[in-house]
Amino acid sequence: MLPSRLPEPDLYLPGTGEPSLRWGIVGPGWIAGEFAKAVRAHTAQQIVAVASRSLDRASSFAATHGIGLALGSTEQLVSHPDVDVVYVATPQSEHLSIGLAALAAGKHVLIEKPLTVSAAEAKTLADAARGAGLLVMEGMWSRYLPQTSVIRRLLADGVLGETRAVLADHGQAIAADPQHRLYRPELGGGALLDLGIYPVQFASMVLGAPTRVTAVGGMTGTGVDAYSTLVLGYEGDAQSTLHTSVLARTPMTAVIAGTEATLSIDGSFYTPTSFTLSSGGDPSVPELTWSDPTGLRLFDGLSWEATALARFVGEGRTESPVHTLEENISILATIDEARAQITAS
Ligand SMILES: NC(=O)c1ccc[n+]([C@@H]2O[C@H](COP(=O)([O-])OP(=O)(O)OC[C@H]3O[C@@H](n4cnc5c(N)ncnc54)[C@H](OP(=O)(O)O)[C@@H]3O)[C@@H](O)[C@H]2O)c1
Repeated sequence: MLPSRLPEPDLYLPGTGEPSLRWGIVGPGWIAGEFAKAVRAHTAQQIVAVASRSLDRASSFAATHGIGLALGSTEQLVSHPDVDVVYVATPQSEHLSIGLAALAAGKHVLIEKPLTVSAAEAKTLADAARGAGLLVMEGMWSRYLPQTSVIRRLLADGVLGETRAVLADHGQAIAADPQHRLYRPELGGGALLDLGIYPVQFASMVLGAPTRVTAVGGMTGTGVDAYSTLVLGYEGDAQSTLHTSVLARTPMTAVIAGTEATLSIDGSFYTPTSFTLSSGGDPSVPELTWSDPTGLRLFDGLSWEATALARFVGEGRTESPVHTLEENISILATIDEARAQITAS
């Protein structure tokens, strides 16, 4: 039986008691610009500083985004007394060292996905955060979107019955430029760490940690994984089939199939979007559809994670309750295993 209506989203609304933290950005590249715009337009947070390896680039980013302080090094930013939280928006290879530097300087940290390039690195970071009593959170923005709170509620209420399958995919056609960070092994390139992490974390949210990982895929000429399909097995006759690619524009949809209902999320499933809950083939049961009612579109959605982080800091938490550090480690362990299988094949 489907419910008569879908639950209301649980929103990380700005101005609902969370502290207005002072943020510093490290790595003024593409996503940092989207983050700065979203935070400025849709949160009560303040971006007070930006650091680059070049003071000129930091100054240019600061001018574009109305940020008061431009700095020429990570060290200056993490140790600055006016910064409460550091947003790390560099290539993946730098996430661990900058995260550790921020923690050592007493700052909370939001690190772009992937948290680090491996489960071992994520464990090092998690241990440091726990030791320091500071919050570290992966910028897996999908976890903080309105739709995700509704989907989690439906799963928790058992509306889908026993969840038996997850199908999810994230593929983009990224020009094969050997200088692009995605094609460079030393920067933590590859489809899985950059794009595949979205379907892998989605399956983890729905089904938990897999007991079996099988990956089939191929490599770029530069030596990173280019495309792959992962089949993950779990206790209790559940399986997920996940696809990623830097070579093709795939639908970027996701499906959760249970014994009672099917939930189909429209592409791009990891951004603010819409979904349908259906009985899976019984025409007498009307489908229920949901679409994001907040008006925040695409990268505006980065603002939810910033307000979520501030709320968690205000609550005295040292990790996200909806994406724990143990789950980050588990997700990266799945990716470690998949990358090893693809590289060896
Ligand atoms: N949440 C999302 O939707 C989303 C989307 C895209 C990317 N991301 C993530 O965000 C991070 C950055 O991606 P991006 O696409 O914004 O990259 P990008 O445009 O290349 O920007 C990265 C910035 O990091 C700095 N940097 C520091 N160390 C570097 C190094 N060793 N090599 C190159 N750059 C270095 C660079 O700034 P300076 O040279 O000025 O220091 C550069 O501008 C990645 O972890 C990625 O996975 C997230």
